[in-house]
Amino acid sequence: MKIIAIVSAKGGVGKTTFSANLGTEFARTGLPTVAIDLDPQDALRLHFSAQAPGPEGLVQATLAALPWRQHFLRTGNACELLPYGRVQESSREAFEQVLREQPRLLQDSLQGLRLPQDAVVILDTPPGPSAYLTQALSACNAAVVVLLSDAASYATLPMMQTLLKRYCLSRSDFSDYAYLVNQVDHSRQLNSDVAYVMRMQFGARSLAPVHQDQAIPEALASNQFVGDYDPLSRAAHDLGAVSEQLLRMLTVGAGSAA
Ligand SMILES: Nc1ncnc2c1ncn2[C@@H]1O[C@H](COP(=O)(O)OP(=O)(O)O)[C@@H](O)[C@H]1O
Ligand SMILES: [Mg+2]
Repeated sequence: MKIIAIVSAKGGVGKTTFSANLGTEFARTGLPTVAIDLDPQDALRLHFSAQAPGPEGLVQATLAALPWRQHFLRTGNACELLPYGRVQESSREAFEQVLREQPRLLQDSLQGLRLPQDAVVILDTPPGPSAYLTQALSACNAAVVVLLSDAASYATLPMMQTLLKRYCLSRSDFSDYAYLVNQVDHSRQLNSDVAYVMRMQFGARSLAPVHQDQAIPEALASNQFVGDYDPLSRAAHDLGAVSEQLLRMLTVGAGSAA
């Protein structure tokens, strides 16, 4: 089993969009894939299903000590989904307390799922430091740091470095991390320049960029995976390329993107 954490310091950079599309791409290559929403926004489900949100999900299963698998949502997509769940504020607080008290909760629960050896688990996280991010970084074998090509995202790099160092880099079961620059727009000079600077700085840890493309919000509005909504779009092409790159990084293993 390989666990990939999708992380960022800032919100609205495309983590949830990327998590859903990556999960679907992986599942379509035949890998057993599970996407888990660790963000109280409970937004990952929107990419998979038009069903009305319910309380079933990660929080309810954990608080009721039920197997997580019982709360996997049927999506009609090959990628399975464990939503966060639409829960009361008191449940969110209780869940976050559990996360703080049991730093290995996510790691142990994922092992307890007894997924096949070739399974991939994708963890969507809320922005910035939190108990969710700590759990995700402590459990993952690889991490993708999602950024926009702007000065605000650039300024967050030292913080992400510190967190990766603390929770990932010293673990022998951690392969590597990589950067995804999203919403690149070459018609805007500054955006294009920052994307270039980031690419140079990240070197081999730079994933192929994902361009700004209306197909992404449009696919979300129709609860579809971008590759189904508009297979010929720039976004579908970009997301496909990144998924392939990540798959190689996971299968080749430690040091591949160093
Ligand atoms: N490459 C892109 N092109 C255009 N819109 C995008 C792109 N990536 C993400 N978006 C839009 O940006 C918004 C934030 O994306 P989201 O995945 O929810 O970010 P996060 O999970 O990091 O908060 C959404 O409205 C999404 O449709
Ligand atoms: Mg999100």
